[in-house]
Amino acid sequence: MAALLPALVASFALAACDVERRKSDAELGLSPQQAAGRKIYDNYCDRCHEPYSTRGKKGPGLKGVFKNKYLSMSGLPANDERVGDIIRLGRHEMPAYSQTLSQQQLDTLLVYMHTL
Ligand code: HEC
Repeated sequence: MAALLPALVASFALAACDVERRKSDAELGLSPQQAAGRKIYDNYCDRCHEPYSTRGKKGPGLKGVFKNKYLSMSGLPANDERVGDIIRLGRHEMPAYSQTLSQQQLDTLLVYMHTL
């Protein structure tokens, strides 16, 4: 029985990894600025874009959005300028945020998106 215990604990730990649990800012190692950007993301972007998955919702998942050279859907360069434009101006089904977010909020949001 004693030998079984570690195996049991391990299988519970594995099962826990399978469910998608929201990680805290601390668990993600976010700086205060990155955490502030995450709040903006949660308020305005999360309903259409998965932050920690490439699985699509209404829009494409944004996991690793700045890790590749080009954006997966539009094929535009994955840099602050182009992504900032998409957020400001919107794109097809995506609403524009130039009236909603200040330049400072947009910058903070981009800082967070670099952690994805
Ligand atoms: C109502 C749903 C919706 C909301 C809210 C939304 N988006 Fe989008 N987004 C989309 C859709 C749909 C596309 C794909 C547009 C297209 O056809 O190119 C997209 C495209 C994008 C792209 C380009 C992806 C690519 O691969 O080309 C980025 C980056 C992006 N959104 C970021 C954001 C951010 C950041 C926010 C929050 C400020 C946000 N979106 C809010 C629906 C949404």
